[in-house]
Amino acid sequence: MLNDLNAERLSLAVDLARRAGDLALEYFHRRDALVVETKRHVTDLVSEADREVETLIRSALDKAFPDDAQLGEEHGLSEGRSGFTWVIDPIDGTAPFLNGLPGWCVSIGACDDAGPALGVIYAPVLDELFVAFRGQGATLNGAPIRALDGDLRAGLLGIGANDRVASKRVGRMLTELMDAGAGWMRYGSGALMLAWVAAGRLTGYAEPRMSAWDCMAGYVLILEAGGRVLPFPDGPGLTLPAPVMGASSGAYDELRDICAFGSAPDW
Ligand code: IPD
Ligand code: CA
Ligand code: CA
Repeated sequence: MLNDLNAERLSLAVDLARRAGDLALEYFHRRDALVVETKRHVTDLVSEADREVETLIRSALDKAFPDDAQLGEEHGLSEGRSGFTWVIDPIDGTAPFLNGLPGWCVSIGACDDAGPALGVIYAPVLDELFVAFRGQGATLNGAPIRALDGDLRAGLLGIGANDRVASKRVGRMLTELMDAGAGWMRYGSGALMLAWVAAGRLTGYAEPRMSAWDCMAGYVLILEAGGRVLPFPDGPGLTLPAPVMGASSGAYDELRDICAFGSAPDW
């Protein structure tokens, strides 16, 4: 059973993911009016929608849980004193979002002294809501979900990469995965692909360099669905990029070895 405080946190996170998703969906339907800023690359975009959706989430969290820390992609880190840290990606999959594709989501995660704690991911266009809290199982639109059984070849693998990773690094990873017989796909949202690992739609997900806000919620979903995740650094490391990987138990070791995520990151 969740204690009262964590039950309140989970309930607010679910409500906020839906409200944030509704706001993002309004922007999505009038995306032609958005001023798009390319941060560094055509896949690295931001607009008013990202900032406003994060503001909606953060101000509600500030009000309800002023002692909790918050880390978000658009508005950074605000320290707390409770030991509970919210980790927010207001729109994961901004490139698909701005290009009119359905593969984007709101991702609200959290961690505490014991690691990943809460994960809520809402994909508005698909109307799919993934919810998990440590020790409580994981659900999709209210129904329990489980990661797949079987190894890397038991289904599709999700892959991600961004322009900060050397093309050779990505090419090597894909070559070795294909040589191992893994079938892979890439959708525009890493957070959503992690949720799909939890839902048994993908065998795993791997990306050489991501941030905590991309993976925290998905990690909780995968752990609660019986899968495994590559630990994301905590403490000061939480704000820095790191390799991200989650998979069904049967695929995890092979995937980590092929992706060489056991050694120091080589971006
Ligand atoms: C990105 C998406 C993408 C992944 C990138 C992320 P954003 O997040 O998750 O799938 O490959 O590494 O940065 O920028 O859309 O929030
Ligand atoms: Ca992201
Ligand atoms: Ca984002």
